[in-house]
Amino acid sequence: MNIAANPVVQAEQTVYLKDYEKPSFSVDSVHLDIQVYTDQTKVNSSLVMKRQNVGDLVLLGRDLELISLTLNGTRLSAADYQLDSEQLIINNAPDDVILNIEVIIHPESNTQLEGLYQAGSDLFVTQNEPEGFRKITFYPDRPDVLSVFTTRVEADTQFPVLLANGNLIEAGEAGTGRHYKIWQDPTKKPAYLFACVVGDLAVLKDQYVTSEGRHVALEIYAVEKDIPKCHIAMQALKHSMRWDEEHYGRAYDLDNYMIVATSAFNMGAMENKGLNIFNTSCVLADEEFTTDAAIMRVQSVIAHEYFHNWTGNRITCRDWFQLCLKEGLTVFRDQSFSEDLQSAAVQRIDDVAVLKGHQFPEDSGPLSHPPRPDHFVEINNFYTATVYEKGAEINRMMATLLGKEKFRQGTDEYFKRHDGQAVTVEDWVAALTAGSGVDLSKFLIWYNQPGTPKLEAQGEYNAEQQTCRLNFKQFLKAHPKYPNLQAVPIPVALALFNSETGEQYSLQCAALFENAVKDGLYLFDQDEASIEFSGITAKPVVSLLRNFSAPVNLDFNYSDEELAFLIQYETNGFNQWQAAQTLLERILLNGHEAHVYIAAIKNTLPQLVEKDPLLASRLFDVPNEGYLGSRIDQDYSPVTIQEQRNALLNTLARELGSFCKDTYLALDPLMQTEFSQAMGVRALKNIMLNMLARQGNTLAFDLAEEQYITTGNMSERLGALKVLVWNDAPQAQAVLADFYDRFKDEALALDQWFMVQASHPKATAATIEYLTSHPDYDLGTPNRIRAVSGGLNANPVNTWGFGVQHFIDLAKYLDKKNPIVGARLLQALSRWYTLAEPQRTEVKNALEALTTEVSSKNVVETLKSMLGI
Ligand code: ARG
Ligand code: ZN
Repeated sequence: MNIAANPVVQAEQTVYLKDYEKPSFSVDSVHLDIQVYTDQTKVNSSLVMKRQNVGDLVLLGRDLELISLTLNGTRLSAADYQLDSEQLIINNAPDDVILNIEVIIHPESNTQLEGLYQAGSDLFVTQNEPEGFRKITFYPDRPDVLSVFTTRVEADTQFPVLLANGNLIEAGEAGTGRHYKIWQDPTKKPAYLFACVVGDLAVLKDQYVTSEGRHVALEIYAVEKDIPKCHIAMQALKHSMRWDEEHYGRAYDLDNYMIVATSAFNMGAMENKGLNIFNTSCVLADEEFTTDAAIMRVQSVIAHEYFHNWTGNRITCRDWFQLCLKEGLTVFRDQSFSEDLQSAAVQRIDDVAVLKGHQFPEDSGPLSHPPRPDHFVEINNFYTATVYEKGAEINRMMATLLGKEKFRQGTDEYFKRHDGQAVTVEDWVAALTAGSGVDLSKFLIWYNQPGTPKLEAQGEYNAEQQTCRLNFKQFLKAHPKYPNLQAVPIPVALALFNSETGEQYSLQCAALFENAVKDGLYLFDQDEASIEFSGITAKPVVSLLRNFSAPVNLDFNYSDEELAFLIQYETNGFNQWQAAQTLLERILLNGHEAHVYIAAIKNTLPQLVEKDPLLASRLFDVPNEGYLGSRIDQDYSPVTIQEQRNALLNTLARELGSFCKDTYLALDPLMQTEFSQAMGVRALKNIMLNMLARQGNTLAFDLAEEQYITTGNMSERLGALKVLVWNDAPQAQAVLADFYDRFKDEALALDQWFMVQASHPKATAATIEYLTSHPDYDLGTPNRIRAVSGGLNANPVNTWGFGVQHFIDLAKYLDKKNPIVGARLLQALSRWYTLAEPQRTEVKNALEALTTEVSSKNVVETLKSMLGI
């Protein structure tokens, strides 16, 4: 018997994209036998392998107890192989190999939630992306080794649910009190898509008939009491299946599709073939327990994981550097899907808000990396906003440029060429190019470079000649590890409006210095270029990057009046919002007057509330303190930002006057038939309620209390709760206690109870201490940690005050227990270098001290990058 050491300090090893080599052996088929007991799990595997390249036979394995290893019928002894904490190497293996491996693992004590782990008393689940399978058994655990999996799962009969990927082919008893099931997945897949589930769960069933006539059994597994909350997810699943047929010609390929919900999950969800495993937060949805935003998220994550079946599973990644190949494309696909579920403008606004709020700051700081990085220590650290969100933007740019029809020809070609393969970003761009007939190779630059380009634009109007000329320049900031940056192709969607009439000009390029894709869309792919339009009879107002046609920082010298004009007259809802954002940012960061914004809002709102109440509510999006902080690169003072933001909100509340009360009272979500519209009305009412409270109007508290009591809708209840709690209303403690009683057995709603208190504007270290020592606080449940720590982090004054110690302690603890989550939470402190002194040095010292106390690759790599060492 041989126990692979579990070293306290893992050797740090950087992996480079340029070192990629094809694996020495393929795995034609694999049989797994997984026997779950309360104190251990036995995993027996049988691998049929064939040599396909020179080199040793390498199996990866971590935290495994090796019981036996048999090669072509001969039991190997320790002298026949080399084993360390990460791998098992067999030298001089023959070309045809059948390996039988027996190991013992301990899911019951696996707190990392990676590999096979116990997720509560009645459930065992897996999370194998990216490198979790090596914690189940020794295996060539890399995405370019695809195999046919047959899985026997055995457990006590107290766990009636035994699931794995594919079709159920056998079931039976396995001695007293035990039973088994055998599943076979006909599709070849890499090990990261393997899943199995053992537990006691209820199930919601439905069915779907594909465009090809296949009958698919749909099943969502959750604890009994949550089954009524699975209907929205089920509808979203069926909707996604139809959507992928209609928009990409992709039909589902198995006879069943299963989703399992667990509250013990590090991230959102996982696309395992035919057996998705989901964080409950991304499946359970019910108006009574779930906010509107969370309901939208459930639908988009359901779609996201479903869409992976083609973009990720049928066609997978050659290596983990290509992660954005599947994630960027799948995010783009789920964003497009969600644009059909609500106001398309608002969907785009929300997606860009995530991009600007998370990806831009990430890309301007020490954790900046290209969407396709060329090196890493711990791949888990690269499930980032850059890989996902910027990755999606690159696909969106190419789709915008090609237009619907050509983009479809491109994706058709991709699926035709690469179905069943593990491919690269180059393969994707080449297929799009071949299918559409448009050369997109320059977009590869976007994948390989870090940083947000700056797009500087400048306009010149010639009244005599009635021409308008636009000059563009792009700037890229050199990165120490990526010094040679090239100009990127930037699709610029734009419109010109007549400043006198508010009408949009139809565009004609008089002189073309740049690529006109079609009127209103231009491809700018050099350091500098210009375009000129004719027939511009009166001074135009220019609207650039409509719908955010490229992920760049735009620098254009708008006057406040022009921005106010765009809020009123721009017909692209996204750019209306963007104009409001730019104006608000100027008021907040540069001390501009607020009245221009307020006048524009008052003029625009009445009609907009009728047409698109959700978009109307977004025009009040005063950028949050975290976002504003991320726009400041030095001498950042969170307190100053907080004061400025408060001052602006007070001015807004005052100047809006009776508009707040009138609007609140006039709106009724029950009058709306569409979910999206009702959601908008609820959002707008909550904003007005907040403004009323800011006006110091005690009516606000009465209205909030009434809203809290009478509603059955979580967005309304939580909105009212926040107004009462955050303003320390006399009713605050009573409604908090009521909320707790109502939802103490509803983990996700209870997360909100923690969140509301942690994000109280006056929360102190004592508040957080109270919450983290509450009996319902649980360091084993990432959702609960995120509720408190995320709530704290909503207030940067706290993050950079007592929060520094909070995040450092958390990272230290999770470094040992759950390093994936530990590394992620530590990033709350990644912009320490922007702080004004003495805070800057204090935080830096604290982070430096932490380096001697952590050992996981995840936390160590993140910390070192944050410190630039
Ligand atoms: N592939 C999953 C998804 O985006 C996420 C897996 C995340 N894994 C991780 N280790 N961060 O759909
Ligand atoms: Zn994904």
